[in-house]
Amino acid sequence: MRHVLSCEQFSREEIDGLFNLTDHIRQNEKAYSGAISDKVVATIFYEPSTRTRLSFEAAILRLGGKNISTENANEMSSAIKGESLTDTIRVMDGYADAIIMRHPDIDSAVRAAEVSRVPIINAGAGSGEHPTQALLDAYTIYKNKGKIDGISVAVMGDLLYGRTIHSLIKLLCLYKNITIFGLSNPALALSNDYLQYMAEKGVNYTIVNNLKDLPSDLDIIYQTRTQTERFLEKGLKAEEIVIDKAAMQHFGEDTLILHPLPRRHEIAPEVDSDPRAKYFEQSTNGMYMRMGLLYEILVNSKN
Ligand code: CP
Repeated sequence: MRHVLSCEQFSREEIDGLFNLTDHIRQNEKAYSGAISDKVVATIFYEPSTRTRLSFEAAILRLGGKNISTENANEMSSAIKGESLTDTIRVMDGYADAIIMRHPDIDSAVRAAEVSRVPIINAGAGSGEHPTQALLDAYTIYKNKGKIDGISVAVMGDLLYGRTIHSLIKLLCLYKNITIFGLSNPALALSNDYLQYMAEKGVNYTIVNNLKDLPSDLDIIYQTRTQTERFLEKGLKAEEIVIDKAAMQHFGEDTLILHPLPRRHEIAPEVDSDPRAKYFEQSTNGMYMRMGLLYEILVNSKN
């Protein structure tokens, strides 16, 4: 593995290997504490982040690596003086062994990879993709269900602008007998590109209009936040579908709730104590999965 740009690039074997490596690192963390001690990894974020940036930075430090970082690159890097993204990458690849980047443009990571001499990791590209989020989502499903083949998943919330949804759909398409339900305000429905992608991969996708239209033995609810930062600028409005205690009564004890976070109102805090709520476990899993990914890119791929 060199760059991480889109979930379309992964094979099933690569994902299985990454999950096994992540488990091994987790169980033997001390043994990996100096694994990348000779590496400098850059995190450059042109959009806000709590989980992705800090879990990557924690992963770098836990593997013994060093981190250089710009957390508000739009204002605190020379982007504000008019420097292009590609010029910035051309400079940073002389300082770092890998570059983890988040940027508002859908094609930003691809453009960066075209000029970079070091691996580029897409940590969120506009309303396009967020592949490492999908990896940790799938890892969380695998840890809780013991498998991904054959599961049913309801993707909810902002299916139009939600990059985590887009990457998760592409990743799920690698598995067998996947059923996906889409539940959103019609203004935030999945675009035709993704409908076509699933059809080509043989994944069954059904649009539903109400939580009660979902099967009560559903495996995964994947709720997401309305991406108002992309949405309001277009003058759009959409009511959110809220998961609360009453809504959860429709589902069985094995229906797990995931959310990439941050959340606002779309999952009521009263749901947090429900044993089916896995979103905080999911964010912790993210750090370990990112340790696995960095090890794979900076150690395994170099050997
Ligand atoms: N899930 C996620 O991408 O969260 P952050 O925006 O906080 O990184």
